[in-house]
Amino acid sequence: MSTVKTTDKEKVTIPRLHELKRRGEPIVMVTAYDYPSARIADETGIDCVLVGDSLAMTMLGHPNTLSVTVDEMLVFARAATRAATRALVIADLPYGSYTVTADEAVRTALRFVKEAKAGAVKVEGGVSVAPVVRRLVTAGVPVMGHIGLTPQSLAVLGAFRVQGRTADEARALLDDARAIEEAGAFALVVESVPASVAAAVTRTLQIPTIGIGAGAECDGQVLVWHDLFNLYHEHTARFVRRYGDAERLFADGLAAYASDVRARLFPSPEHTYRVPERERAAVDEVISDE
Ligand code: KIV
Repeated sequence: MSTVKTTDKEKVTIPRLHELKRRGEPIVMVTAYDYPSARIADETGIDCVLVGDSLAMTMLGHPNTLSVTVDEMLVFARAATRAATRALVIADLPYGSYTVTADEAVRTALRFVKEAKAGAVKVEGGVSVAPVVRRLVTAGVPVMGHIGLTPQSLAVLGAFRVQGRTADEARALLDDARAIEEAGAFALVVESVPASVAAAVTRTLQIPTIGIGAGAECDGQVLVWHDLFNLYHEHTARFVRRYGDAERLFADGLAAYASDVRARLFPSPEHTYRVPERERAAVDEVISDE
């Protein structure tokens, strides 16, 4: 099996993302929540690794993103940054950790930067979250915004549904996008929005937009690891394209392993330790009594 590794060792910085937008070169982002997946993403040349709070669903089995805690997110963020030394690692601030007070938002965000070495944090919301974004940026924390379908608003929205389909919603989305840019965010995720509306947001902003279910005209794209590789089945959105079948790979491997163990074909001699020749007689004497 061939593995595509990047030869580009240059660290991905925020100015580099801005330059990619200026040059019209797409930015590639993927969620990765642990050491092996972040390492693979990094070595493959992915620009940004998102330790998204989608891990509440994909890694922890919750029905939505609302219950994951800051401490839980920090464990995953630390693992990802240990592996991803080139990609920019962005960590989601989880639900309820940045909306009560701006002071609390700053304290939470600083934990992700100091304890997990995250390169940036992501927050969901538009006009109403802009003051928090401004406070975080003033405190020296780079912020990625997230508008459109914001899964942390599930309790308010009632269901996951496409945003920006009416004139009022499209206007509100553009207002949200401008507010987040003006507050100092360096990039903006646009989720589940008609392509024409996301394209208008992208044209309006100086900062890059990263789309998920937002058409091809965003400055970059993001997908969730478990959607990419067929590891999550509870909900599959229209915008997901599978790029591999890790579930089949794992299931086939486990079935072969179980079959070999049951047939006593594993472990075979090459996977077995032996007592050195010089110790054999003495060890045999000890174990022959048992
Ligand atoms: O948590 C997440 O994975 C996200 C992406 C869907 C953008 O926010």
